[in-house]
Amino acid sequence: MDILVLGSGGREHALVWKLAQSPSVGRLYALPGNPGMENVARLVDIDLADTEKIADFAGRIHASLTVVGPEAPLAAGIGDLFRKKGLKIFGPSQKAAELESSKSFAKNLMQKYGIPTAAYRTFDDLGAAREYVRGQGAPIVVKADGLAAGKGVAVAMTETEALDALGRIMGGAEFGAAGARVVIEEYLEGEEISILAFTDGETLVPMPPAQDHKRALDGDLGPNTGGMGAYAPAPAADAAVRQEALEKVLKPVALAMKKEGRPYQGCLYAGLIIARDGLKVIEFNARFGDPETQALLPLLDGDLAEILLSCAEGRLHEARMAWKKEAAVCVALASGGYPGRYAQGFPIKGLDAAGALSGVTVFHAGTKKRGGEIVTAGGRVLGVAAVGADIKNARDMAYRAAALIDFGDMRYRRDIACRALK
Ligand code: AMP
Ligand code: GLY
Repeated sequence: MDILVLGSGGREHALVWKLAQSPSVGRLYALPGNPGMENVARLVDIDLADTEKIADFAGRIHASLTVVGPEAPLAAGIGDLFRKKGLKIFGPSQKAAELESSKSFAKNLMQKYGIPTAAYRTFDDLGAAREYVRGQGAPIVVKADGLAAGKGVAVAMTETEALDALGRIMGGAEFGAAGARVVIEEYLEGEEISILAFTDGETLVPMPPAQDHKRALDGDLGPNTGGMGAYAPAPAADAAVRQEALEKVLKPVALAMKKEGRPYQGCLYAGLIIARDGLKVIEFNARFGDPETQALLPLLDGDLAEILLSCAEGRLHEARMAWKKEAAVCVALASGGYPGRYAQGFPIKGLDAAGALSGVTVFHAGTKKRGGEIVTAGGRVLGVAAVGADIKNARDMAYRAAALIDFGDMRYRRDIACRALK
């Protein structure tokens, strides 16, 4: 079968890399893709926002399946468009993707179906939101309702910070419609984990638990980013936690979505906190996590194309998959300044040497070709992933590989997976 993958980051490179290993896959296309994928996929130069054109392209190449990486096309309704045209797609409908694209929708659903999450209120009015924050005090968490590329959340340790965040999100132009409504929620303390699951709307199969490192700097300091590294399996999620996640969160959400007439097909991502009084949901994403996917797919034993197609065709129960007993660690190599402003266009050295190390794969996240060379073209530039016998081995290999790579202004965290090694 021929498969089209949408997106251009490290997550999508990991998807393309794993799909290329599937015996059932013929041609692979990546739209728009990145230079790291070129040896296994044809890159297609179409704007990701142009969903009609993407559907035409998928029809023209007779794609057996289209796999959606990022959230924006899902929120724009690409799942519905493909299904209307009789094209197979891995990813939820627009109404199902609201689990990610509207935090208030997700919170109300959890409340209605008794799925554990932080206590919260939603506000459309800045004055009322301010008054609520003053009444509650800090710490408190303020979230823009809509998609904000990870920047719409303020974990405020003081009342002033929370009020500032409200002003920025609701008062300013920065967030647009995504900030017209806010969710204000209870601050939760505990270990954070990500559990991703494949689902066709009926059957749901979780992947091993992963942990992301969202802050820019070592020791979980600095601003939130898209994720500076990830590892799996995360020992913080022991068998009891995984069971709780499956029975109290993932399965009930899939069932709730079906009952609401929004059956959910695709990758369901639950961001969870292991709080003192049990597991609580922080957020849902309607897609694979990035960088989590770069640590998870190297551990998958199975035909990814077959798994994704079985989700799209509502027969996930037929899919076979197993997970390697090893561990994987992915370290993001970023441009200095990220998640703020950063310079780009620096040549990248050492890609081949790093990729030649045993168990190491270098995923491209923000790169482009200039002449014959590969240069930086984004905040997160590369994801260096390594598989090892255990987390320590995997981490040591990932950092050995990272040390072989160099580009102007390169920054990376030196403590990825440290929580698993304490
Ligand atoms: P989100 O975009 O909802 O994943 O939030 C971004 C980050 O903010 C999360 O990864 C958490 O580290 C933090 N966060 C979100 N909600 C809470 C909460 N209720 N309590 C504590 N931290 C939170
Ligand atoms: N790693 C967090 C996310 O994909 O949203």
